[in-house]
Amino acid sequence: MRDEWRWFNEARLGLFIHWGAYAAIGHGEQSLFRDHLDQAAYAEAACRWNPTRFDPHRWAEVAAGAGMRYAVLTSRHHDGYCLWDSQYTDYTSARQAPGRDFVREYLEAFRAAGLRVGLYYSLADWRIPAYWDGPDRDPEGFAAFREYVHNQVRELLTDYGHLDVIWFDGAWPHSQEDWRSAELVETIRSLQPHILINNRLGLADDDAAEEGVGRSRTLGDFGTPEHQIVADPERMWESCQVSTWRLWGYATGERWRPADVLLDMLVEAAGKGGNLLMNVGPTPDGELPVEFVAQMARIGRWMERHGEAIYGSAAGDVTEFITYGRQTRVGNNLYLVIRFWDRRGEVRVAGLQTPVRRAVLLTTGQEVPVRQVGDVVTVTDLPQEPPTDLFPVIRLEFDEPPQAAPWAVDRLWQGDPARMSDWAALRGRSVWTDGLPRP
Ligand code: GLC
Repeated sequence: MRDEWRWFNEARLGLFIHWGAYAAIGHGEQSLFRDHLDQAAYAEAACRWNPTRFDPHRWAEVAAGAGMRYAVLTSRHHDGYCLWDSQYTDYTSARQAPGRDFVREYLEAFRAAGLRVGLYYSLADWRIPAYWDGPDRDPEGFAAFREYVHNQVRELLTDYGHLDVIWFDGAWPHSQEDWRSAELVETIRSLQPHILINNRLGLADDDAAEEGVGRSRTLGDFGTPEHQIVADPERMWESCQVSTWRLWGYATGERWRPADVLLDMLVEAAGKGGNLLMNVGPTPDGELPVEFVAQMARIGRWMERHGEAIYGSAAGDVTEFITYGRQTRVGNNLYLVIRFWDRRGEVRVAGLQTPVRRAVLLTTGQEVPVRQVGDVVTVTDLPQEPPTDLFPVIRLEFDEPPQAAPWAVDRLWQGDPARMSDWAALRGRSVWTDGLPRP
């Protein structure tokens, strides 16, 4: 991996911000299309949208407090409204009611808080007929629209300083060739060689249609599984997830995922070797919803104590542990992130054949006794009551990278099932109890 990209794997947790004029409607970021709104009325309302309480320093403070290391803001979503002062359109926060360049303010505040910064940019612009018609039906219109897109991307990469991530979306229904994505990538690289580009630049003609969102297998530095946490075998990846149960943009009547569900998404991503980009849809006024702020404060407190199990961790599915929680690995340490604390005062992990040197209950910082018989590791003297209302973590220390016993290298429904037959044979081969003493 390129050296200048290492921060991304270190970071593990980032903030996704879906914010735009649609926040005022309060039905997510795609209301224009999904509610089939009147285009002219929508544009007029967007021009009047004027969030007076937008304070990106406050946003950055919440993000940093949650232990996030980077952020990605929607500079423009599918509705085409731009949050920066673009010279290519006046449909922007700078030239309409707010009279402010929100992108610039966001970038400055987040950088000042020590966070890496990214911009989301939707290739789609639902206002423009040529986008819908496409290059076959309207070659000239589409070419002009594509030039507009390329110009805006170049503008963002030229006038806004050092960006760490550019996050495309909305390539559907057009191909990589239609968007001239390869050319766009070249431009981006020439302007900011270090930048990370996501994989939603449209399908190549010979790509099997992976998904409607146009995730390319051939272009892009990192994968973007959405609403799911699955490793991308070919590159770094980041799962993007809503912190509510529904929409990315602000919505009234939203339901919020509890803090343990949010934390579990992070741990699952880290446990599989990827990042979590956790979304928030700020209010029409420009504030982070109070529910989100409260959840992030809890995540932040947990990260303060347990961050070493997350930052820079590698996929940790060393042995069978799924019924208790998840595992991450950093160097020779194996972290047991325990989702279900069963109040037995001990935790038993089977299938670890590397000798354990030491165990620490990270949540309290205390060393705890550990014994190992064969490949069964038992950590004892643990408190009955969970030491945190989120997930306690135990750090198992080894002198070399921990290895699973052969039977436990694969999970239950994977691998060669015959590896378990000797284990079963220890009891015998009959369906009868065969000589077990009757009670
Ligand atoms: C989907 C949605 C879009 C959202 C994005 C985030 O592609 O169309 O609204 O911004 O996911 O990953």
